[in-house]
Amino acid sequence: MKGITTVINSVLLFLISVLGITLYMLNKNKQNVKKTEEYVVPIVVKKPIILTKEEQEGKEVYEENCSMCHKMFKKDGHFEDILERYPVDFIITFTRQEDSLLQIKDPVTVTINEEYNRNLAEHQYKELSADEIRNMLDYIRKVY
Ligand code: HEC
Repeated sequence: MKGITTVINSVLLFLISVLGITLYMLNKNKQNVKKTEEYVVPIVVKKPIILTKEEQEGKEVYEENCSMCHKMFKKDGHFEDILERYPVDFIITFTRQEDSLLQIKDPVTVTINEEYNRNLAEHQYKELSADEIRNMLDYIRKVY
């Protein structure tokens, strides 16, 4: 008789333990769910920049001719706001014939050179067509 009671007691104890552990685990899982909900970090999705064929060509013009001196997204890259400061036609002429502009003492070109304290007329990209420079400016307008 005593033997059977001990067996029943052991089985009951075992079942109660299993139940206890199960309840503990369930509760723990619930708490975990709550925690992650509290710490959800908002994901900022950046809109991808899709370039047209012309803008892609403009990007290449920039990278091959201008990027070594004019770094994008840098305060001293001189590029971030050129489109706000100068008309497109001026930028085209300046890029292709800064020397001629200096010769005729174009006031804007003279000011640019004074501002940077130089008089080198570095921009003589006559091999670039107006359209190529325009594509480059469209590219800049899109990425800034
Ligand atoms: C060798 C270096 C160098 C390269 C390459 C170069 N630039 Fe410049 N750029 C300068 C310097 C230095 C200045 C400022 C002084 C000056 O005008 O010479 C400047 C100024 C400018 C400005 C006026 C910016 C302002 O802040 O007023 C424009 C517009 C410009 N560059 C366009 C271009 C374009 C477009 C190209 C590529 C086709 C190009 N640059 C390539 C050195 C360079």
